[in-house]
Amino acid sequence: MGRAFVYVILGGGVAAGYAALEFSRRHVAPGELCIISEESVAPYERPALSKGYLLPENPTSLPQFHTCVGANEERLTPKWYGEKGIELILGTRVKSADLKKKALVTMAGETITYKYLIIATGARALKLEEFGVWGSEAENVCYLRDIADADRMVKVMQSCAGKSAVVIGGGYIGMECTAALVTNKIKVTMVFPEKHLMGRLFTAKMAEFYENYYKERGVKFVKGNVLTSFENDPSGKVTAVILRDGTRIPTDMVVVGIGIRANTSLFDGLDKGGAKLALEKGGIKVNGKMQTSDSSVYAVGDVAAFPVKLFGNDIRRLEHVDSARKTARHAVSAIMAPDETGDLDYLPFFYSRVFALSWQFYGDNVGEVVHFGDFLNSRFGAYWVNEGHIIGAFLEGGAKEDYKAIAKVVKTRSKVSDVGELEKLGLEFAFRE
Ligand code: FDA
Ligand code: NAD
Repeated sequence: MGRAFVYVILGGGVAAGYAALEFSRRHVAPGELCIISEESVAPYERPALSKGYLLPENPTSLPQFHTCVGANEERLTPKWYGEKGIELILGTRVKSADLKKKALVTMAGETITYKYLIIATGARALKLEEFGVWGSEAENVCYLRDIADADRMVKVMQSCAGKSAVVIGGGYIGMECTAALVTNKIKVTMVFPEKHLMGRLFTAKMAEFYENYYKERGVKFVKGNVLTSFENDPSGKVTAVILRDGTRIPTDMVVVGIGIRANTSLFDGLDKGGAKLALEKGGIKVNGKMQTSDSSVYAVGDVAAFPVKLFGNDIRRLEHVDSARKTARHAVSAIMAPDETGDLDYLPFFYSRVFALSWQFYGDNVGEVVHFGDFLNSRFGAYWVNEGHIIGAFLEGGAKEDYKAIAKVVKTRSKVSDVGELEKLGLEFAFRE
């Protein structure tokens, strides 16, 4: 049993959707391209899952957020794929890859061959069990990576209105899910090991603003602590969490967001006879054209570790939607128009929305931090200055032009001769450049 395609996209998430759009723009012929996805729905904008999808009233639902609406592009519904002759092979997990034979084998035993392969397998949520905590399969413990997880979380939330939740992890999932839980009238306690929220990006001053905002909405914080075990009722439902210092927090549900691991296992060579590609930073290493150590194979999105020109070609693996969209389109361009495609020149971009707040960040958060703006009225930001140049910029509550301006100073690595002056000018500095 087998099928042959010229182009195969392995994985059906954000990157797959944007790759398909680019293939279509570049006039891929009907029957040449397929997407193989373990998920049972066509590619969608994953960020919706922790935002509009969790709203108690008028939640966003499919087909509203199929790719590529997130970047104001065409919405690629299953019908669109059908019309373009792009095969969607859904509900299908690939279990092995043979790079020499240019073949993938599915769980059902089908062999699918390619001339060019784009790996877009994304990442999976880390499980508490990987940190030695058992019992996270209980029916009221939720992770959030795909639409099946989100559907489950909605059901658990609905059964907990007016009750309480513990959120484990103070990163993106922790912050966005806490906001959603509160909006669903659930009282939340957040537990995380760091000193403050979003330790990967926020400074202590920025985190203080968000923590105060959350506290005003009834959220409690337990910092510098981790979960060690669950207490359950006779049906297996979690009724309390126990922390490292012995603290016991009774709860009606738990949400876990403790990071991800890129889905590289088909290509890490650890399985006997398995395919082996060069890896770095926990992902599949690619060059500026998103090409892996096998010239017929490309990797994009969360699973790809690629050189960022702005950081002196330092290899980075970014876990954000903008990078998934742009790396995917770049790989397709490199495959279909190699002569006109140079190395990707990417400006790292992250964003989030919680409650009525919304921020954007560009670049890298290394060097000296210069805060600016009005922390009392939700309109503030920060620049990161490294060796006399702006290398990163963050802004809460900005308008479209403001975000464009801070992106530009990072992209052009604006020179800073006087940090005091930069602090005084704040956002205005970005408009002067
Ligand atoms: P993605 O995870 O989207 O897709 C991978 C696909 O591969 C999945 O369909 C998976 O089933 C499939 N797959 C994996 N292994 C397979 C196999 N062996 N066989 C078949 N299929 C396989 N970012 C941001 O910048 N702003 C935001 O607001 C958010 N919000 C957000 C919310 C939530 C809930 C999550 C989970 C993530 C975000 N993100 C985000 C991150 C962003 O969604 C993420 O960076 C992209 O989805 C990455 O796109 P990929 O296509 O690389 O992976
Ligand atoms: P994260 O890396 O943002 O945060 C993980 C958090 O879990 C950190 O606070 C960390 O210290 C904590 N943690 C780690 N180990 C722990 C342990 N043993 N016990 C308790 N806490 C522990 O990851 P996430 O929040 O799980 O998000 C998952 C992925 O989804 C990321 O790739 C993220 O970029 C993506 N995402 C992005 C957005 C966005 O960009 N707006 C929104 C949602 C999700």
